[in-house]
Amino acid sequence: MSRILMASDLHHCEMVWYDVHSEDRMQRMIKAFNDEYEKEPYDMLLLLGDYSLDFWVFKPYGSFLNRGLSYTMKFMREVVPNLPKVPIYMIAGNHEQYSNANWKWITGCERRMTIPYGDNLFIMLDNFGGNLDPTENSDGTYTPVDVNYVREQMAAYPNTNVFLFAHDFYARPGADIETEEFAQLLREEPRIITMFAGHTHLSNIINLGEKYGNKCVIYDGAFSYTRDIEHTRWGFRELRFEDGKVTTAYLTPPSDIKINGELSHHDGGSQDEMVLI
Ligand SMILES: [Fe+2]
Repeated sequence: MSRILMASDLHHCEMVWYDVHSEDRMQRMIKAFNDEYEKEPYDMLLLLGDYSLDFWVFKPYGSFLNRGLSYTMKFMREVVPNLPKVPIYMIAGNHEQYSNANWKWITGCERRMTIPYGDNLFIMLDNFGGNLDPTENSDGTYTPVDVNYVREQMAAYPNTNVFLFAHDFYARPGADIETEEFAQLLREEPRIITMFAGHTHLSNIINLGEKYGNKCVIYDGAFSYTRDIEHTRWGFRELRFEDGKVTTAYLTPPSDIKINGELSHHDGGSQDEMVLI
């Protein structure tokens, strides 16, 4: 058995969600990642974006454009060193519009990258790579999947199963601006097993339909606010390889928060599971 974890939408910032300040929330998150590692080690952590709200200017959200305070940097200083000692790969979300040079300087990662893992290939894409280093308030600019990059990486690592990761894939009903080239890639390339994304602050699985070869985008929830706190508690997603089987599940560690002023206890659990291979 081996497994990796992924997470996104961690949003270290000045907002208070569920009556928990960000500094406290980061400590709870660190504990959750470490407890999970103790329970059953994982080989790496893929982070799919939104560590901050750096390029919003609205108070109290934004910080970098307003006053030069990078919460992404705070995340690197305060959170990352306390996570389990596994390789951590970070792509940017729609709230980290740093140029690739700045991203690398802050996080040590490129805005996109490819990670071989046994017989598998993890391609982490930069799907919010437009209008970088903005000087005015920005929510991020979506840029469609760079299909040439995916094809190149797949050619460089033949005979692997391929998993695509991005902050989001705008290929779902209601948010479908992906290219025909990407649709064709998914329809024609059986090596691409599935896609993983964040951004929606939900744990769910969306089948993209025939146009995209009936492939799914599997969402990895959030560790900030969630769009449906009753369904999607704070958590992270596992990708698990066991006896030739590949599965995924959203894992929610125990948490005590306040929802609409009422204390809410969660025992921890596992949900939105899927067998991928
Ligand atoms: Fe996002």
